[in-house]
Amino acid sequence: MISVLFVCLGNICRSPLAEALFMQHVNKQLLNDKFKADSAGTASYHLGELADIRTRNTALRISNLKLTHKARQFNSQDFLLFDYIVAMDKTNFQNIMKLRPDNAKAEVLLMRHFDSMIQNEDTIPDPYYGTDIDFEEVHYMLLDCTQTFLKKLNAKNKN
Ligand code: 4NP
Repeated sequence: MISVLFVCLGNICRSPLAEALFMQHVNKQLLNDKFKADSAGTASYHLGELADIRTRNTALRISNLKLTHKARQFNSQDFLLFDYIVAMDKTNFQNIMKLRPDNAKAEVLLMRHFDSMIQNEDTIPDPYYGTDIDFEEVHYMLLDCTQTFLKKLNAKNKN
């Protein structure tokens, strides 16, 4: 079983959506016995909360996804529990790396590096202070990135 943890700042906009979209691709491709996913935030502002209502509404409307994840904070144990930790932006990446133990198992990656349409970008923009359009753009961005990421993981672990 390959385990993936998606990480953003608050764990209420980007990473719970990335987790749900990734698992939707996994389910549709009948790969449930091969991949599992979770999400977390580097900050503790929203612990225990469901995803932001704008994220949930957009996820339901565009991808027929009901988000049920409750926000939790990223911690150094996650380096031992997951194979891959996927950060939404460079600040998340740096905050994750500050907690890296010597015996870390996880490989830390940037989500936007899996965008199939754009190269040289490293950020899934934080929509929290944005508009409904920003939430929609992030949704389509994560739809693409999670799909491409799964494709690469699956190809890598075929043998
Ligand atoms: P996320 O978005 O990191 O994608 O979950 C944010 C959510 C909340 C805050 C910032 C970003 N906040 O400052 O409360």
